[in-house]
Amino acid sequence: MLTSGGDCQALNAAMRGVVKTIMNCSDDVEIYGFLEGYKGLIYGKFKMLTSSDFSGILTKGGTILGSSRVPFKTIREPDANGLDKVEAMKQNYYKLQLDCLVILGGNGTHKTANLLREEGLNIITLPKTIDNDLWGTDMTFGFQSAVDIATNAIDCIHTTAESHGRVFIVEVMGHKVGWLTLNAGMAGGADVILIPEIPYDIDKITEAIQKRADRGSRFTILAVAEGAISKEDAALSKKEYREKQKNNPYPSVSYEVAAKIQEKTGMEVRVTVPGHMQRGGSPCPYDRVFASRLGSEAGRLILEGQYGFMVGYRNREVVRVPLEDVAGKLKSVSPDASIVQEAKALGISFGD
Ligand code: F6P
Repeated sequence: MLTSGGDCQALNAAMRGVVKTIMNCSDDVEIYGFLEGYKGLIYGKFKMLTSSDFSGILTKGGTILGSSRVPFKTIREPDANGLDKVEAMKQNYYKLQLDCLVILGGNGTHKTANLLREEGLNIITLPKTIDNDLWGTDMTFGFQSAVDIATNAIDCIHTTAESHGRVFIVEVMGHKVGWLTLNAGMAGGADVILIPEIPYDIDKITEAIQKRADRGSRFTILAVAEGAISKEDAALSKKEYREKQKNNPYPSVSYEVAAKIQEKTGMEVRVTVPGHMQRGGSPCPYDRVFASRLGSEAGRLILEGQYGFMVGYRNREVVRVPLEDVAGKLKSVSPDASIVQEAKALGISFGD
């Protein structure tokens, strides 16, 4: 097994689910944990694990194996010492006479997992990420725990925003998609939600703030995705956007939005960035159950000798999704999705 990419809550719960399911049916099993994601597989850093390693980890955040990012775009490039990384991973797999490799990861991780499948290795994957951006599954584990934390941040901001009559921005993670911001924003009662899939117009945002002020509200709360983008910037080519960013004085999009609101309305604006807190701490009960279920199904796949699947979740059912269908595809929020329309009907502005 290995855990790769940014960590999240319930990675340990998922691995425990795999191991418990297999050990429940067979004593004849050896489990190796590769350390720090694909690095462990490339450089042969691993440890043999026993059932006691999986005891007491259901509630533990992070990953007992450690994780790292090994970008897919560099996977075919030799390392600093000229080592062929893909060949090294295959050699370590064959040297240990593995039957199967269980890989827990998000988007980038799945591209490499699929490449290893194409290279002839037996692969099963589990979808982890707080971003919930993996195609082929309605939900990833880690997501609900992160929604809880981001919501709690918005809840805490609510009371101080109310006291001081300020505009507050809470910046939420989620990489290039808005699932986390949309859900935490709705759960926390944000008045404005900005997500990458719906580019914003700053004037629409100030209109929404003014409308609230006209109705007697002394404060406004914005949930802003770290990947949110203005209509103006969204219209640029990738190259033009990169060039523009070189002269961008703001540490993140929230600070830019804050400066513009302040300039246009004269209101006091504050920014809060919970950041990596959203990936930390204990998994919420939902994620503990969810990750255990997916892990259990991965265990069943191994017992059946069925490989080349990601264990996903669709229409409230645990499903087996062919890995080649998943790799390289992003699941983003559709601006036409019913949840977006419902949020708009509630009076939430998306700045569009
Ligand atoms: O993919 C999970 C995630 O937390 C994203 O939401 C965020 O953009 C990114 O990882 C942060 O990455 P890093 O931990 O490398 O700073």
